[in-house]
Amino acid sequence: MKKKLVILTGAGISAESGLKTFRDSDGLWEMYKLEDVATPMAWKKNPALVLEFYNQRRKDVLNAAPNAAHIALVKLEKYFDVTIITQNIDDLHERAGSGKIIHLHGEILKSRSSKDEDLLYECRGDIKMGELCELGSQLRPHVVWFHEAVPMMEPAAAISGEAAIFVVIGTSLQVYPAAGLINYAPYSSMKYLVDPNVDSMPRMKNLEVIAAKATEGVPVLVEKLIAVSKY
Ligand code: APR
Repeated sequence: MKKKLVILTGAGISAESGLKTFRDSDGLWEMYKLEDVATPMAWKKNPALVLEFYNQRRKDVLNAAPNAAHIALVKLEKYFDVTIITQNIDDLHERAGSGKIIHLHGEILKSRSSKDEDLLYECRGDIKMGELCELGSQLRPHVVWFHEAVPMMEPAAAISGEAAIFVVIGTSLQVYPAAGLINYAPYSSMKYLVDPNVDSMPRMKNLEVIAAKATEGVPVLVEKLIAVSKY
């Protein structure tokens, strides 16, 4: 039986595909106030601005392509039972060819009813004001905003608890509950972290840090993991 490998990814893995991260110096939260575009209060106060923000995110995602890091991770599926838990709303893991992906913070290529969160629609164009779901409520992007529940946390925590190896790539680990997932991984599991800025990252038992950009660090890590899978 293949060992369980759980990979938590954040905006950093898509940075070299041209998608901005949130908290780096040129990040999205330097350009926008998150309270204005990524909370239920913002949606209530100025839904047009919220739609504009996410319409731009959708355009950016459609213009981006998976990079060497997304692609390298796919190779691991031959050797491990891989689950990717991503905080990203892009579809670059899917387009690279990964099989099991949990989107913790939603998916930008879907819209949803603001009345019933299970009513989802494929969405590749702009969501406009006045565009309604079948229940008659305004469509919103299928993303998890600050102060909203994270419904996929439960399956993500369960699978993290079974990890023989837990990998973290390109996330500042500032946003909970996602940032706490590494603590669900068994104490004895091997853990790896790939990020160019590792100074503020957690230190824990069995943690190996690869201080590099995703397109450089991930292919190296993948070869290393393939080597250990043979023992
Ligand atoms: N390769 C790997 N990591 C990188 C790269 C790169 N080329 N460039 C930047 N990084 C790292 C940064 O060092 C940082 O640790 O990616 C991380 C990005 O952190 P954030 O911008 O905070 O993004 P993320 O952790 O994904 O944010 C979590 O916050 O606003 C919300 O919902 C949003 O899902 C998002 C959540």
